[in-house]
Amino acid sequence: MTLNNLPIDNTPFSRRVVQAAVDLARRPLTGLRVLDLACAHGAYAFEMANLGAHVLGIEGRESWLEHARRAKEEGSWSNVEFVQDDVRNLSKAKYGEFDIVLCLGILYHLDAPDVFDFVAQLADVCREFAIIETHFAARPRIAHEWRGKQYWGMSTLEHATGATPKEKLNELGASLDNEQAFWFTQPSLCNILRHVGFTSVYDCRNPVANLYVGPERLFKIWGNRITLAAIKGQSVRMLYDPTMTTSSEADWPEDVEAHLFERGLREYQALEAQEAEQSAPPPAPDTPEARIRRLFRRFLP
Ligand SMILES: C[S@@+](CC[C@H](N)C(=O)[O-])C[C@H]1O[C@@H](n2cnc3c(N)ncnc32)[C@H](O)[C@@H]1O
Repeated sequence: MTLNNLPIDNTPFSRRVVQAAVDLARRPLTGLRVLDLACAHGAYAFEMANLGAHVLGIEGRESWLEHARRAKEEGSWSNVEFVQDDVRNLSKAKYGEFDIVLCLGILYHLDAPDVFDFVAQLADVCREFAIIETHFAARPRIAHEWRGKQYWGMSTLEHATGATPKEKLNELGASLDNEQAFWFTQPSLCNILRHVGFTSVYDCRNPVANLYVGPERLFKIWGNRITLAAIKGQSVRMLYDPTMTTSSEADWPEDVEAHLFERGLREYQALEAQEAEQSAPPPAPDTPEARIRRLFRRFLP
C-alpha cells in the first residue's frame, strides 16, 4: 500500500494498534479527538481519520510532514491536521485534550528527564486511553529519580557523539537532538503510567505483531517491544476495604522473578511433599498374620 507514492511503513504493529483503539473506544470513532504523537508521514493519523476521528498529528521533522500534508491534500482530508513540533512541548494549554492518544515508536527516542515530563503531559492531555508502542529495557541497568520516585531502565544511543544538527535531522527515524535515550523496564513503565494518572494498563497481545522476513517470508515475532493500552479511568473504591486507595497501591518491583520466587518456592515444596508421599512404599497389608507378627515381634527373628 502506498500513501502519496510513499510506501507505507506497514509495521507489524499497525493492525494491532488500530484494532486496539477501535476495541477500547467501544463506539465508532466518529467525532473523537485523536492525537498521533511523532506521526512521521501520518500513516496512523490517516487510519484513524478514515474511521471518522478528528486527528492531530505532531511531528518534529518537516521532511515527514511534507509527505503527510501532500497526502492530506490529495485525499481532501478535512479531519486530519499536522503540526511541526517537538513532542516534548506537548501540553494541554497548547493542544487541548484528546479522547485517544497514540504514542507509537517515540517514547524510546526520548531521554531522561524529558521522557518523564513527556509521560506526565501525555496523561494530562488524555481523556480516555493512550496506546503506547515502545521498546523496553530487558534489565534494570540505570535508575533516575523523578518527582520522588525511582525509574529503572537503560540508556541507548540515538546519534553518534558529536553528530551535527543536520546529521541528526537526516536520521529520519531517530530523536530530534538528544544523543541518548532512556528505555524504561516494563515494571518502571507500568509504574510511571500509574503515577501520572492512568488507572490501569493492558498489554496488547492480539493481533500478533509479526514480520515476514527474507525471500522465504519467514514468520517472525517482533522482540523486545510492547504495545500497552493505558486507561484513564475512575479510581475504584473497594467495598471490602474503603481505605484501599490508589495511593496505597504497590509498585511493580524491578526483580519480578525474585518476588514470584517465594510463591513459586512454596508451590514447589508442596508439590515435592505430595510426590514423596505418592512414591513412599505402600504400608504392609494388615493381615491376621501381620497383626500376630507385630504382637510377638520381640520374640520373632
Ligand atoms: C520510529 S518513528 C515512529 C513513527 C510513527 N509514530 C510510527 O509508529 O510508525 C519516530 C518518529 O519520531 C519523530 N521524532 C523523534 N523525536 C521527536 C520529537 N522530540 N518530537 C517530535 N517528533 C519526534 C521522528 O521524526 C520519527 O518520525
